[in-house]
Amino acid sequence: MVGVKLAVVLVVLVGGDVSFSMTIGNDARGDLAREDKVAFEDTTEAAGEIPAATTEVLPAEDISCRIPGITYPIGIEFEELAERLLNNSVVLIDVRNRWELEETGKLPRSQNVPLPEFKTAFNLSPEEFLKKYGFVKPEPEDDNVVLTCRSGRRILRAWDAIEPLGYCKVRLYFGSYLDWKARSAPLIPVPKSLEP
Ligand SMILES: *[C@@H]1O[C@H](CO)[C@@H](O)[C@H](O)[C@H]1NC(C)=O
Repeated sequence: MVGVKLAVVLVVLVGGDVSFSMTIGNDARGDLAREDKVAFEDTTEAAGEIPAATTEVLPAEDISCRIPGITYPIGIEFEELAERLLNNSVVLIDVRNRWELEETGKLPRSQNVPLPEFKTAFNLSPEEFLKKYGFVKPEPEDDNVVLTCRSGRRILRAWDAIEPLGYCKVRLYFGSYLDWKARSAPLIPVPKSLEP
């Protein structure tokens, strides 16, 4: 992934909604494909060398939706995340606090469920969740959910909170906000909350 250049071409604000576009070089796509392949091959090999190591330590209900041979949680790199945001094939959830989003802006099309209320949120009914957070509550089997935070630490705690609920396929953007910002990718202003 070293040396990958990403050019941010355009950011358009249309009312409250946001459309944006980025150009990702062919180099980035190539690297991405290679990296994905390597990651999956590596984990499969590792699983072969250390048979059933993971399945032995974890209770059965915690691994019900896991695919053997893949190490969880699965990460996602900047290039793939950016492409998936552009083609609307991802639900990106930022687990930072609202005041942090107000300070830094938010990643385009991201939703916000702060870490302190993460577990409670995912125990809400779909109706309550939608009302409180303004987007459809992901189903445990969904494979299009990505978590992000500031530095990549809080997403691990968020994953810990919902993985036992069966959300095995949630992916983590370990680079998170710091990586996004370092690449000068678009950030969308968040209005100051009226609450004290
Ligand atoms: C969206 O982009 C991702 C990453 O490049 C790709 O794998 C996926 O097939 C695309 N989905 C659609 C619906 O175009």
